[in-house]
Amino acid sequence: MSAETFDKVKQIKADIEAAQPDSLEALEQFRIKYLGSKNVIKPLFGEIRNIANEQKKEYGQLVNSAKEAAEAKYESLKAGLEAAAEQAAVQDIDLTAPGEPLELGARHPVTITLNRIIRIFERIGFVVADDREIEDDWHNFTAMNTPEDHPARDMQDTFYLRESTELLLRTHTSPVQARVMTRQKPPIRVIAPGRVYRNETISARSHCQFHQVEGLYVDEGVSFADLKQTLLYFAREMFGPDAKIRLRPSYFPFTEPSAEMDVYLGAETEKDYRLTKGTGWLEILGCGMVDPAVLENCGIDSEKYTGFAFGMGIERQALRLFDIGDIRLFFENDVRFLKQFASAL
Ligand code: PHE
Repeated sequence: MSAETFDKVKQIKADIEAAQPDSLEALEQFRIKYLGSKNVIKPLFGEIRNIANEQKKEYGQLVNSAKEAAEAKYESLKAGLEAAAEQAAVQDIDLTAPGEPLELGARHPVTITLNRIIRIFERIGFVVADDREIEDDWHNFTAMNTPEDHPARDMQDTFYLRESTELLLRTHTSPVQARVMTRQKPPIRVIAPGRVYRNETISARSHCQFHQVEGLYVDEGVSFADLKQTLLYFAREMFGPDAKIRLRPSYFPFTEPSAEMDVYLGAETEKDYRLTKGTGWLEILGCGMVDPAVLENCGIDSEKYTGFAFGMGIERQALRLFDIGDIRLFFENDVRFLKQFASAL
């Protein structure tokens, strides 16, 4: 009985020594058989009960040596086989095969237009002031000198947040003027790009959400001539050196005097007929000298400082820049439309 058990262990040990696993899979089979949780060596330890006392020590050592042989073989083969497998995998790669196509996104035409405008003003020292789209009544209307009964404050024109008539979706970027002027003293030279909201019927030419860029320059001795020259510089940078501008008297509660500016882009074409109502003049912004009341509302001495401000619409300029016929396309997120501007960065 005991000799047979000895022989069994010897056989297993000989098998271990003879084994030549030559792949990672074969090595794993080897590990499971000799070192796994149900390995064939474990029960041999139990058999020590049946061994004669004087042979127990010898038997124990023999089983141990089988186990150690299995561990040593496993360790000695593992690193080499892993390296070989890795190398084989590398050799399997076909370096001449075409790459996986990478889907590149494209910037939205409105973003492209916005970025161009920002860069033009940055070149003459304006810095970007970013602010919130959910505004309070004070910054959007009161600070901007808008009377309590002004129609813009009407629910018909403004989206108020349901819980509150104090909070609203900003109807223009002008509240950023108040945000900046209440926390910063002149000289102030900022532009504020961003999204604005109005409760309007959606059509090819207008939408309930759109983008504006606000401009504000406050310092000692700022004049209307500074405003006009700044806007002319902008129009030429944006639309080419031949662009002409025209200022038409207008009214805004927060500027005095106020004007609207149109840009003339050369002979009227069939394509921009709708945009310019057949005149060739594209209306792009409102502007004027900051009303002294607005300066005072924001804690700036209107005896000492003057300023100009403007607010321009982005979508219309983007329509013109990219020859697009319908403003709704900007907000539909149709990739077939958006993809076309991938190269326009
Ligand atoms: N906030 C005005 C609008 O949305 C535009 C404007 C800005 C006019 C600054 C004058 C000065 O129509």
